[in-house]
Amino acid sequence: MIVLIGYMGSGKSSVAQYLNSNYSLSYCDLDDYIENEEQKSISEIFEQKGEIYFRKIENLYLKELLTQNRYQILSLGGGTPCYANNSDLLKKFEVDSVYLKVDLDMLTYRLFQNKQDRPLICNVESESQLKDFIRKHLFEREFYYRQARYIINVTEMQIGEIAKSILNKVSSE
Ligand code: S3P
Repeated sequence: MIVLIGYMGSGKSSVAQYLNSNYSLSYCDLDDYIENEEQKSISEIFEQKGEIYFRKIENLYLKELLTQNRYQILSLGGGTPCYANNSDLLKKFEVDSVYLKVDLDMLTYRLFQNKQDRPLICNVESESQLKDFIRKHLFEREFYYRQARYIINVTEMQIGEIAKSILNKVSSE
């Protein structure tokens, strides 16, 4: 199983969908799976039950998906590898984890246009505040992202190239 990890806005879900439509690889997006199982959006879960509850179910559903091993591609949420024993689970299940690395300026640009459905950043007012937030947050999270089996700097890459690069890396083992 290929597991895509990376910060919010790094393209995990889009790349998973691309691999599905262009290479017929089956895929699951962990956030979509959680929304479907809980019958609530991620924002509603954060609002109504809080982040601690979200992290708990995120861990349970990740375990469930890894155990079932039904999908060829799994895209995680930006925080998934950084909580509970999730990063150990990825190692234990010996998945091909891929960190899609995107630079700070690009993340800020993308996320500022697209922050409304993301509970951790929806209240940040200016682009420069968002950039400061992401800089600090990434600094803490990179430790976990860097444990991925493969790291691809995708900042300047088109989606098709990203997909090819992932498949190349995984098949060259
Ligand atoms: C989160 C990222 C989100 C979602 C939740 C928390 C995070 O997923 O899981 O809002 O902690 O970075 P995306 O990376 O798909 O936006």
